[in-house]
Amino acid sequence: MTKQEFLNRYLVERKGTDSLKWDALGERFGQDDLLAMWVADMEFKTCDSITEALKRRVEHGVYGYSCASDAYYQAYADWMERRHHCETDRSWIRFASGCVAAITYVIQVFTQLGDACLILTPVYYPFHNAVKDNGRRLVEVDLEARDGRFTMNYEAIEKAIAENHVKLFLLCSPHNPAGRVWSEEELNQVLDICRRYNALVCSDEIHQDFTFGGKTFTPALMVGDGKYRDRLITVNSASKTFNLASLLHAQLIISDERLRATYDREIRGRNQTELSIMGLTAAQAGYEGGEEWLEALKGVIRDNYQYLKTEMNKKLPEAVVYSMEGTYLPLVDLRAYVKPGGMKAFIQRKCRLAVDYGEWFGKNFRGFIRLNMATDPALVREAVVRIVRHSAES
Ligand SMILES: Cc1ncc(COP(=O)(O)O)c(C=O)c1O
Repeated sequence: MTKQEFLNRYLVERKGTDSLKWDALGERFGQDDLLAMWVADMEFKTCDSITEALKRRVEHGVYGYSCASDAYYQAYADWMERRHHCETDRSWIRFASGCVAAITYVIQVFTQLGDACLILTPVYYPFHNAVKDNGRRLVEVDLEARDGRFTMNYEAIEKAIAENHVKLFLLCSPHNPAGRVWSEEELNQVLDICRRYNALVCSDEIHQDFTFGGKTFTPALMVGDGKYRDRLITVNSASKTFNLASLLHAQLIISDERLRATYDREIRGRNQTELSIMGLTAAQAGYEGGEEWLEALKGVIRDNYQYLKTEMNKKLPEAVVYSMEGTYLPLVDLRAYVKPGGMKAFIQRKCRLAVDYGEWFGKNFRGFIRLNMATDPALVREAVVRIVRHSAES
């Protein structure tokens, strides 16, 4: 499928469809007239296999309590094996209504009130909230930014883990919004530090299917031939891959029997939610038949990012467009053109854009914005034009 064919078939108007991104702008940003480049979902209809499977469900017309079928587990296992060379076993899988819910369960089950949990900032803001809202202590270590690319500072990570007696490390892999696809070597280093200090690792791999420029996603389960599995819980979902966030379905992969036993015992009384039949149906259909759609989508995202980077480099050479090895959510450092304190006025009042602000992801990232590339190329162009035009005026 060419890029144009993909856009012709799947690009849709979302305003007026109860979309958080488009229809809650007034509530979230205090202004309705913004071009929505925030929140991580897309302006594209999901793949045909999912739409067909959901239609069949609707035709059947029953939405009673549901269970995951053998075919569901097989589709998930095949996807992980085929795309990520990762063998999984159905007995390892538990379900949640979302990845953030799953992370919250991990925090509640495996740590105590006041325990320290580590995150590497800038990182997806619900990581911060999940720790703080559950009465745990948030320990933040900044990623190091060099030449438009983020890396981990192992010394700082080890120091923070040791000094704070960190019990849980929330890893984001690939990393939103740093755009990194961590290499096996990098993961090995950080997981090894966690092991030495006996910290559990929760690896959020919701962005696993978005990698670019020949980068390979390494599931934490596979690092060092699986040697960290006894301290590891993975969280993932088809929701980012196939644009299904509102169908409320995600999974935890717990390969270690002892961790699983603890989880199963302690989750009772915390998660009483049954499975979402639409979520299960959609995820299975995506894993089974969504590959061609995904590859075409990635082509659109890649071109959008390339446009952003090339134009910004040309017109605003002092701005830093961070590398996007993974995810569809690059960070842009605009501090050379806009004073960090004036960023909201610049973005909302001048450019009339809705973006995710850097400080939402980490306190040292004021002056950065995150832009969503999984959208209409015309909107990316318009956003860039506005940023360039108004930067010149600032
Ligand atoms: C790293 C990461 N984890 C989790 C989520 C949200 O997952 P869910 O909607 O399944 O809670 C997102 C959404 O952007 C994300 O970027």
